[in-house]
Amino acid sequence: MIPGARLIILGRQGAGKGTQCVRLSRHYVVPHISTGDMLRTSAREGTELGLMAKQIMDAGGLVGDEVMIGLVGERVRKPDADTRGYILDGFPRTVAQAEALARITADKPLHAVIDLDVPREIVLERISSRRVCRDCGTNYTAGPVVPSPWICDVCGGDVAQRADDTPDSVNRRLDLYETQTSPLIAHYSKLGMLAVVNGIGHPDHVFKRLCDAVEARR
Ligand code: AP5
Repeated sequence: MIPGARLIILGRQGAGKGTQCVRLSRHYVVPHISTGDMLRTSAREGTELGLMAKQIMDAGGLVGDEVMIGLVGERVRKPDADTRGYILDGFPRTVAQAEALARITADKPLHAVIDLDVPREIVLERISSRRVCRDCGTNYTAGPVVPSPWICDVCGGDVAQRADDTPDSVNRRLDLYETQTSPLIAHYSKLGMLAVVNGIGHPDHVFKRLCDAVEARR
């Protein structure tokens, strides 16, 4: 394994992108750039961008391309990402974002674009039982008995359901995935950059498949 990589992880909402990107970022020693986490942090801080984004996120919509391209363009130029690489989670989500990213990364092209493939009926199950630490973002799966209060094992923060994990919002996000984000699969496939990885099974097995796909592309 050579440390450093420039990767995009695509996939439906709830496919396990966040879970796997955390592991990949430790494995390749590169920053995990999650646009969802960036927007949720801005929302918690109450910035103008965060407040605008929160309304859109809670309703299951997509924040405008221009805003997202600006945010990611700035982030990938920071010294850690510029020197070591990065893993993009949640970006690009539209063809316009992908085209802008190609311009932004023209001098340091991506190594791989991986579609973490999990069908809609399975992601719906996963999202309905997902609980997240409000402070550090660690994911948990709710079983039949839910602790109350639920305290995060990692940082001691509150564990709760995400505000955008309501059935209406999840269905809207999944519909938007089909119309806005799934065309990226054909887009990157035509460019010869895409690998599809089966996201079903134990997270350790999915992680191994992802690493194999990255190594095969470098
Ligand atoms: P974002 O935070 O990116 O949310 P998302 O795409 O909806 O993705 P999720 O976080 O829901 O899913 P995930 O694939 O990371 O799955 P996870 O690992 O949690 O974006 C939020 C919002 O921000 C968007 O809706 C939009 O409004 C806005 N936004 C962000 N980027 C944008 C952009 N570029 N343009 C415009 N707007 C943007 O896993 C899910 C659950 O499954 C967890 O409970 C996990 O524990 C469990 N799990 C994971 N792997 C497995 C496994 N192998 N088996 C069983 N369970 C598993």
